[in-house]
Amino acid sequence: AAASAARRDLAGCRVVVSAGGTREALDPVRFLGNASSGRMGVAVARAAALRGAEVHLVAAHLEVAPPSSVQLHRVSSTADLAERVLDLAPTADVVVMAAAVADFTPAQHSSDKLKKSGEEGLTLQLRQTTDVLAAVSAARHPGQVVVGFAAETVADRDRRLEVARQKLARKGCDLLVVNDVTGGAVFGQPDNRVAVLGRDGSLAEHEGPKGAVAHHILDAVRSLRAAD
Ligand code: CTP
Ligand code: CA
Repeated sequence: AAASAARRDLAGCRVVVSAGGTREALDPVRFLGNASSGRMGVAVARAAALRGAEVHLVAAHLEVAPPSSVQLHRVSSTADLAERVLDLAPTADVVVMAAAVADFTPAQHSSDKLKKSGEEGLTLQLRQTTDVLAAVSAARHPGQVVVGFAAETVADRDRRLEVARQKLARKGCDLLVVNDVTGGAVFGQPDNRVAVLGRDGSLAEHEGPKGAVAHHILDAVRSLRAAD
């Protein structure tokens, strides 16, 4: 990591990183959310800045402090995040979607607090959100590198990588970083174990502190840009 940082090999590069977890409001005080801490995305943003990039961090409810070396764009919902990322992406050389983006949002938002009614349960109606990664990938310009993340709970390694390959193809991104979250061991932890899949069929596996893993991911981005 130190050697990579010393290279400043991303000088002149504009990098957009999304991190954290989006929240979808149900009413003025309640939301649907997820357990993403934002650590991995923040590690990528910090590593890219160390390597000389101009970094825009689109941050949804981080549990960790964002680095001062990046430009911070705070967002809350998936719609906010989509708007900001889609605004920054056209002028970016690299887009890294590390955020845990809600797949569903309430079909209706109540401006008053939801109330209980007798003993009745509550049925929520949800609709799908915009797939930001797929949209960024579809609009990708030549030379731009788009990176997605996937947290898969499939226990069998080969099967997990197979599911991830299908996801990479579906999303249309250049690289997909696959977390093994069997046992829920990754969210909020300082270490990570990932497989980095390439559009070209490549596979590299890395394990260690999120900062070191972030540099490996950026190495993969660099080699794609160099090959271009
Ligand atoms: N993603 C996104 N917009 C969404 C959902 C996900 O940009 N509405 C991005 C995530 O930031 C991540 C990648 O897509 O980089 C993969 O997310 P994941 O949840 O693994 O994929 P999904 O397509 O949502 O599939 P699944 O049904 O497995 O959740
Ligand atoms: Ca999802």
